[in-house]
Amino acid sequence: MKIGIIGSGGIGQAFAKQVLKAGYEVIISNSRGADSLSEIVKQLHGNVKAGSVEEAVAADVIFLAVPWIHLPNVAKQISNWTNKIVIDPINPVVPPDYKIAELSGRASSEIVQEMLAGVKLVKAFNTFTPQLLSASPEEANGKRVLFYCGDDASAKAIVKTIIDKIGFAGVDTGTLKEGALLQQYPSGPLPGLNLIKL
Ligand SMILES: NC(=O)c1ccc[n+]([C@@H]2O[C@H](COP(=O)([O-])OP(=O)(O)OC[C@H]3O[C@@H](n4cnc5c(N)ncnc54)[C@H](OP(=O)(O)O)[C@@H]3O)[C@@H](O)[C@H]2O)c1
Repeated sequence: MKIGIIGSGGIGQAFAKQVLKAGYEVIISNSRGADSLSEIVKQLHGNVKAGSVEEAVAADVIFLAVPWIHLPNVAKQISNWTNKIVIDPINPVVPPDYKIAELSGRASSEIVQEMLAGVKLVKAFNTFTPQLLSASPEEANGKRVLFYCGDDASAKAIVKTIIDKIGFAGVDTGTLKEGALLQQYPSGPLPGLNLIKL
């Protein structure tokens, strides 16, 4: 299975490290093009190439690690998101003070799902810092809990398999409407928790 990553910052690279360690093929992209990624690709170990956003979106599963404010640009860049399986680790915060965006009581992931029309969205990997996400998920003879949620059962099953393979303990928080509000930073109760499943 090929995983496309959009965004090569802290979270994109931390996710890349884990899926590469688990043997997945990865194509990583950013806003500045493949040439700007040569150093990052050199530092990541495994089956990884730099590419364009379009090439990343052609993968089997897409990890969308861009800041909330840049989401509309990425959404516009791809003409057809229908049936794409997208993992959303985005926290809806707005610079300069990184307060929560105006969401009218909705989960940010519901808005992401609307922006990427026809997508199969799974919210996951948003509750850890890049340091914790790239660390070994095994601790105290258990596995670090990683929350995920979404409305499409088949996409959730595929993301759960990725979570299992990289060694975390996946915990399903439900639909996007319910689960993404629990996972949402900074308003939900789950971000920042470092739980171990024994
Ligand atoms: N950092 C955390 O502690 C943390 C924790 C959980 C979740 N998150 C969430 O994860 C996401 C990524 O966070 P981060 O800390 O990794 O951000 P970051 O370090 O600022 O990196 C953002 C990446 O997004 C890329 N990007 C921006 N606009 C783009 C576009 N139009 N097309 C393609 N790539 C684009 C940037 O490209 P360039 O490199 O070319 O500028 C950069 O590689 C955010 O939504 C954040 O809320 C962050």
